[in-house]
Amino acid sequence: MADSLSVGQRVELTINDFAVGGEAVGRVGNFVLFIPGASPGDKVEAQITELKKNYGRARIHRIIVPSMRRIQPRCPVYSECGGCHLQHVNYDSQLEFKTKMVQDALRHIAGLDGVKVRPCKRMSRPWNYRSKTQMVVGAKPYLLRTDNNKEEDNVPRFHPYVGYYAKGTHSIVRVENCAIQHEVNNELMNACREAIERLQWPVYNSEDGSGAIRYLVARHGYYSNQTLLVIVSSQPRLPKVREFVDIVRKRVRSLCGVVLNLNPHRTNVILGTRNSVLWGSDHIVEEVAGLKFNISANSFFQVNIEGLETIYSQLDQFLQIQPRDTILDAYCGVGSLALYMARQAKRVFGIDECQEAIEDAVVNSDLNGLTNTTFMDGTVEKVLPGLCSKGSLLQRRTSFSAAVLDPP
Ligand SMILES: C[S@@+](CC[C@H](N)C(=O)[O-])C[C@H]1O[C@@H](n2cnc3c(N)ncnc32)[C@H](O)[C@@H]1O
Repeated sequence: MADSLSVGQRVELTINDFAVGGEAVGRVGNFVLFIPGASPGDKVEAQITELKKNYGRARIHRIIVPSMRRIQPRCPVYSECGGCHLQHVNYDSQLEFKTKMVQDALRHIAGLDGVKVRPCKRMSRPWNYRSKTQMVVGAKPYLLRTDNNKEEDNVPRFHPYVGYYAKGTHSIVRVENCAIQHEVNNELMNACREAIERLQWPVYNSEDGSGAIRYLVARHGYYSNQTLLVIVSSQPRLPKVREFVDIVRKRVRSLCGVVLNLNPHRTNVILGTRNSVLWGSDHIVEEVAGLKFNISANSFFQVNIEGLETIYSQLDQFLQIQPRDTILDAYCGVGSLALYMARQAKRVFGIDECQEAIEDAVVNSDLNGLTNTTFMDGTVEKVLPGLCSKGSLLQRRTSFSAAVLDPP
């Protein structure tokens, strides 16, 4: 079939499904085409943009019959921004698609057929729920047209861009009010943009590696109302730090710390490994279900607090932990699930490859007065077999009443 198709050709097709990553899938004959921005149920005219042996890609040229699932995306930059992929379909369809992603992963990646997957849980706050944002920073000069419009009066002005990468590119889409971010994080990003512009902070240029500021990361505690800002920079020193902090604090009263993360490498990985505190604290403390959590710059923490509370209620419902139980929390992060289970279990073992997260998990245990947790730093693949074998790290074989897995 691929032989009879060509790049640039327009084809009519009906979309059947979503693929992993949120692109829609349709077929011309038996040939699979991935089409971003389409919805199952759409009949579209699409223009082919890429052809491989077994599949191709196309962009929508015209929607002939729109799917009943379609809705107006809430975000004004949705069509360009690479952050979201499903805002053009209703919430029920989004949940259906996420459930199917889990089913497909179990079947096709893990080779497990017939596992019953329960439907994805509906959130009461599907917007502005994310407690962590990571925005990219870049510079774009623009020509300011003066009142009398004379060419010589056009002045190049420094104009920092703070936002997300456009779909499939490294160009930055300026984002001022992300519809899924917590409002405080949006305000913090806008305050940083203003401060960078006012202080003319050197913005990183990914083409030649010049400049300094690469990303801004915000973490907001939904219940604690504490906010941490992480500035990712290719340079270890920044000018006018005090002025920067003053500008940002005036707009974001919940700010409790500003951390400089050094990332001099020419890579797509956002965070480097070295942090230094520019002002205030190096972490926030969040409180959920009566538990306190230290969350520092590099640690994972569930970005959707209502999602975390939903996981807790599922743990209650499915595990019904007894005081004699020993539980494994594989991929435990800062211990958000482990500590919840430790309140009922005899002992909980947590394993995570991120050393900083394990350090936080130990601190979090102490913070909550829990003495029945053991956190181990390393990959689950390496640590778990050792834990379960005779003559293990702990002198005796550990067996678990239940295991919780929350891999990336
Ligand atoms: C989705 S997070 C889950 C964190 C935790 N369960 C929670 O609710 O906060 C996934 C975690 O897996 C860790 N991770 C990734 N690959 C790993 C591996 N091979 N072995 C152990 N931990 C890993 C990451 O550092 C991250 O903390």
